[in-house]
Amino acid sequence: MPESGRPFYVTTPIYYVNDVPHIGHTYTTIVADTIARFRRQRGDEVRFLTGTDEHGQKIERAAKGRGIRPIEMADQVVERFRSLWQSLGISYDDFVRTTEPRHRKGVEALFAKIDAKGDIYKDAYAGWYCTSCESFFPENQVVGGRCPDQGHKVEWTEEESYFFRLSRYQEPLLKHYREHPEFVFPDSRRNEVVAFVEAGLKDLSISRSSFTWGIPFPSDPKHVVYVWFDALSNYITALGYGADRALYDRFWPADIHLVGKDILRFHAIYWPAFLLAAGEPLPKRVVAHGWWLRDAAKISKSKGGVVDPLPLIRDFGVDPLRYFLLREMVFGQDANYSDEAFVERVNTDLANDLGNLASRALKMIEDYRGGILPAPDPAFDDAALRQTARLAWDGFLADFEGLAFNTGLARVWELVGALNRFIVQHEPWKIARDPAAARRLDTILYDAAEGLRVVAALLAPVMPGSAGRLWSSLGAPGSVTDTRLDRFQWGVLAPGARTVRGAALFPRIDKAAWLQAAADTREKTMDTPETPAPLAAAAPAAPASSEITIDDFLRVELRTAKVLAAEKVQGADKLLKLTVDIGTEIRTIVAGIATRYSAESMVGRTVIVVANLKPAKLRGVVSQGMLLAASDATGAPFVLTTEDPSVPAGWRVK
Ligand code: MSP
Repeated sequence: MPESGRPFYVTTPIYYVNDVPHIGHTYTTIVADTIARFRRQRGDEVRFLTGTDEHGQKIERAAKGRGIRPIEMADQVVERFRSLWQSLGISYDDFVRTTEPRHRKGVEALFAKIDAKGDIYKDAYAGWYCTSCESFFPENQVVGGRCPDQGHKVEWTEEESYFFRLSRYQEPLLKHYREHPEFVFPDSRRNEVVAFVEAGLKDLSISRSSFTWGIPFPSDPKHVVYVWFDALSNYITALGYGADRALYDRFWPADIHLVGKDILRFHAIYWPAFLLAAGEPLPKRVVAHGWWLRDAAKISKSKGGVVDPLPLIRDFGVDPLRYFLLREMVFGQDANYSDEAFVERVNTDLANDLGNLASRALKMIEDYRGGILPAPDPAFDDAALRQTARLAWDGFLADFEGLAFNTGLARVWELVGALNRFIVQHEPWKIARDPAAARRLDTILYDAAEGLRVVAALLAPVMPGSAGRLWSSLGAPGSVTDTRLDRFQWGVLAPGARTVRGAALFPRIDKAAWLQAAADTREKTMDTPETPAPLAAAAPAAPASSEITIDDFLRVELRTAKVLAAEKVQGADKLLKLTVDIGTEIRTIVAGIATRYSAESMVGRTVIVVANLKPAKLRGVVSQGMLLAASDATGAPFVLTTEDPSVPAGWRVK
């Protein structure tokens, strides 16, 4: 993507490290990733930030409960987030941890500006505190000893504290909401925020003195900085605020802060107030999504009903999960998760509608034209199909810009439906019997493939791995993620290109069997909801130097990969150049296996690759990874592969 594009800065909330990620966090991050990928394909220079919120009472207590230091817990949990994001193909540009020195420096710089303005003073706090929300609540909002936001238990807290003059910013904030109606999205949420501020803002306690796990309060180190002041600052500290300002000057103000509705108040009231006080520009938009519910209750560790994304990824692959979350939720509203809905979506939309269409079209090109894409004949212009594709494209673009992911995807499926009908109506299998109609058949095959190319391009922000696989199986030029979305094109596929009919794009799942297995597993794991789950396999206390810990091993990112194409490397007897699909992208890997394997014999195999190896040049070809092989005493390679041929590309191997 061109580096000269318009800067576009998108952020996720930074996640608490008191517990491992669940489907709620996964949703926020997948939406942000989809926005980032979509904007890149629109030609923007995107910066995508995520990270972890590691300070505060909640983390300190959770660590204590596990008998470890807060930083040890943070170090363990942060890896769970990182590895989940890696499995999900999350394309973040930076990952910030609030325990990093660069973050502390930025917090101190922001604090100094606000302090210099005279907006910080010392007093004492007496009131209710909700440790789960890390939030103060006035007496009149607490109902039956529980917080008004999420019904967690609150505690009476009295301590010396520093305050931020939030009350001063009531009017400036209301003015900002009036002048920038797009600041909070969706509108219903903006109304809530405005009503909250109109009801009156009290000064906000921004330091705590009854525990120590936090950034020392700059003007009084007996206190720590209130965790929300600390956390919200991440959006600028990660841009070098308080140090090197180059990134800050380029990317601030943020285009989108993506948050869940539970934390909108912090982002749409406190955060802009801090920035106003510091004289910094305000983010352009704070966008709030709804909650994933299970049995009408928010999915959260404290409330139960947790949906773990890992088994879904293991059983279905990454892209079905990404697709489901975006397709099923109307952005801004709550949505209900159920295993039934999940399997249903995957089987209907992905396996039946799209997967079957792709394999049918590719099979016809293989059967009737030997896998070589024929040239369309202008005499048989399929104008209606092209028009349907254009409408889907334009509608998709408008919907994704407006964050209406579910309807944007529905438009792609309108095109998928039209392509399926196009094939059924034209009955190419009949035309194929008539040699005089060869040019008509050529055109039908070409247009079906070109329609699928359009589908792949549009799906790339949502399902980058599957879109890439579809793209290359059609013999389309370049990479799907480099396909610009700002202009509809038809006729991009080059006649004469080689198509590849590989494994099914989305294997169908046996619904009854899977639901039964999911229910059995849930029963087993529901027994001990209060026991803190081990965060990582225990490492030996003092490993001998030749031993490595599980964490050392997990740093090597092994993944299943499908070989899409292979050829000999010119002038090197032992080397094959492989084009492999690693689930999230297509890579070139040079492997020293030509003494035992021909190029042809490698195509279609599922191999295991080291996906995070630094690229290296071998005989002039850049190899972006390494393939695993065992070797006998003579050094002859035996490529490692999976026993089960249905294993898709992109699964983590460990
Ligand atoms: N640490 C704070 C955010 C600080 S940002 C400066 C925090 N962390 S969190 O880990 O509790 O939650 C992060 C995000 O996950 C929030 O946007 C929250 O809305 C989202 N989700 C957590 N559970 C959720 C659902 N059940 N459904 C959808 N998203 C939810 O808050």
